[in-house]
Amino acid sequence: MSQLPSVAQHYAREGALTGRILSTLTAEGKDLDRLTAEDLSPYDQFHSRGHQATAELAQLLNPQTGQLVLDLGCGIGGPARWLATHRGCRVVGLDLTEVYCRTAGELSARVGLSRQTAFVCADGLALPLAEAGFDLVWTQHAAMNIADKARLYREVARVLKPGGRFGLYDVMAGPAGAPYFPVPWASSAEWSHLTAPEGVRETVLASGLKQRHWRDLTAEAKVWSEKAVAAQTAGPKPGRGPSGPAIILGPSFAEMVANLRRSLFEDRIAVVQAVFEKAG
Ligand SMILES: C[S@@+](CC[C@H](N)C(=O)[O-])C[C@H]1O[C@@H](n2cnc3c(N)ncnc32)[C@H](O)[C@@H]1O
Repeated sequence: MSQLPSVAQHYAREGALTGRILSTLTAEGKDLDRLTAEDLSPYDQFHSRGHQATAELAQLLNPQTGQLVLDLGCGIGGPARWLATHRGCRVVGLDLTEVYCRTAGELSARVGLSRQTAFVCADGLALPLAEAGFDLVWTQHAAMNIADKARLYREVARVLKPGGRFGLYDVMAGPAGAPYFPVPWASSAEWSHLTAPEGVRETVLASGLKQRHWRDLTAEAKVWSEKAVAAQTAGPKPGRGPSGPAIILGPSFAEMVANLRRSLFEDRIAVVQAVFEKAG
């Protein structure tokens, strides 16, 4: 447990975020009284390939209106709002970083999604949630901070209903050695816990879930990175502050993205999308 405050400190380095995100949106010409979940997506999809990755995982899981979803490691709630808006789900977002949970709730209120989304500050390794309560469990780019993956996936399996499905979209260890630090999920190697794809697959299967889909998206992440990085690291437009995820991680973000990109292109990290199912 001693590592937890530092993981949260890494993510919480910029403090309260809602005001800054809303000011940036105003500077970009958005009318805050007519804000939509879509408007927030340059800021709240905190993973490689942005909302496209969220839409793809949703297509694989095919969530239905009214189903209850747990987003484990939900960040500031972008994927939860996407599922509520596009699929009519009710989503519980759970995250270790308190300021992210607060921001997630405030942003959901701004776009009228308070009834469909709720956010809980807790550790994914000890979910404060009843057994078999969720139709779907969803996680994107959070497991790389979690060393005890066996316990993580046991928790996922525990809270899924029989027949429920688990979708993951995660950064994993690549074949060419450790990534360069700092990266967006860790300032140093101490807080990064990447496992090779085969190891992740075996650990999820050991939790009792059955594999339904597995796809290595490292090549797609490289293509996306080529397009996105220039815009993300170009710095603020004249007369404006930082935008996109730079708001969340602050001045070090450019260096983190450069290391992420170098690690990706040297095959020091892999990006995988997968779906598993709990027996009915
Ligand atoms: C890169 S962000 C991804 C956020 C979100 N899933 C998204 O894709 O927009 C990783 C998130 O995982 C959360 N996290 C890391 N370790 C966690 C843990 N043990 N339990 C819950 N959340 C955790 C962090 O606080 C952070 O918000």
